[in-house]
Amino acid sequence: MTVLVTGGAGFIGSVVTDALAQQGEQVLVVDNLTRSVQPEFCSGVSFETADIGDTERIRQLIADHGVDACIHLAGLISVAESVQNPGAYIENNIVGSARLFEALTDHRVCHVVFSSSAAVYGNASSMPISEDAPLRPTSPYGWTKMVVEQMLSAYDTANGLRSVSLRYFNAAGATSRRRECHEPETHLVPLAIRAATNSDAPLQVFGTDYPTRDGTAVRDYIHISDLARAHLLALNYLRDGGDTTVLNLGAGRGHSVLEVIAAVEHGLGRAVPYQTGSRRAGDPAELIASPRRARRVLNWEPSQSSLEEIVASAATHAD
Ligand SMILES: NC(=O)c1ccc[n+]([C@@H]2O[C@H](COP(=O)([O-])OP(=O)(O)OC[C@H]3O[C@@H](n4cnc5c(N)ncnc54)[C@H](O)[C@@H]3O)[C@@H](O)[C@H]2O)c1
Repeated sequence: MTVLVTGGAGFIGSVVTDALAQQGEQVLVVDNLTRSVQPEFCSGVSFETADIGDTERIRQLIADHGVDACIHLAGLISVAESVQNPGAYIENNIVGSARLFEALTDHRVCHVVFSSSAAVYGNASSMPISEDAPLRPTSPYGWTKMVVEQMLSAYDTANGLRSVSLRYFNAAGATSRRRECHEPETHLVPLAIRAATNSDAPLQVFGTDYPTRDGTAVRDYIHISDLARAHLLALNYLRDGGDTTVLNLGAGRGHSVLEVIAAVEHGLGRAVPYQTGSRRAGDPAELIASPRRARRVLNWEPSQSSLEEIVASAATHAD
């Protein structure tokens, strides 16, 4: 049987695919390559260029490859872009997911692990955030993730499709095969490394007046290897009969933008030139996970997610 990985050419999807292949799973990666280039994969992994919204094509691929589970990572990922162009996010992330779920349920694929996001919480009233906190997304991006989680709950009721929605906080770091790379890049760690190594382009710091310890936004960074491992555990949880659930994936610690810049400067032994500007629409002040439920349900424990380890791995594998 085969695990379908949507968005598997992207940063997180390629690391998840490597981890699945290493565990001996057959994997079919589907990606439309709008935000990535096709990576090299090891044996046991097939790749198809396709859009998740192309139901007929996805149906055919599910049948041809004997897909019995799906890890659904495909999506547009930028908070700022979603504020500028909400329609693209609705079409790609919500309509695309609905079409994918139709194709999966047609073929009685009933295990889905979904890439959700801390963006579903918006400005939470207390930290760390547990899964029971109210969902108040501050961007169309966060809203699309919330809607897809709710769609999955409806597919469980109607079709018995069980799912784990993993609410990632900030994925970062690198493995020996993959480094963080987005098109366009909007994430702090690679941008800070780029600014340190290419003095032509100072890093933009968006917002210095947040109600945080130094005025810059605080995020919870989780190493990509810890994140990938949680997907394997979530898949096994579903295969063992686990119920539909949502789980935070974070380290349970927050770092401000200025603290990340300091960590990159320390790790690289070079200054990170930066300039400050106003807040970016849609960005909450602080997002820190309570990872207690993932610990209990999946027996998952982040083991490489100190800021120093994240920065060191990202710096080692930077281009
Ligand atoms: N990176 C993070 O810190 C983070 C945090 C929270 C949630 N997420 C979620 O995790 C998932 C993966 O994120 P990433 O950082 O690897 O981003 P990424 O942009 O590197 O990967 C997303 C991939 O999905 C593909 N894709 C987009 N729309 C598609 C479609 N309609 N059909 C087929 N392929 C499509 C893109 O080409 C890309 O390869 C996304 O759903 C994102 O929202 C990421």
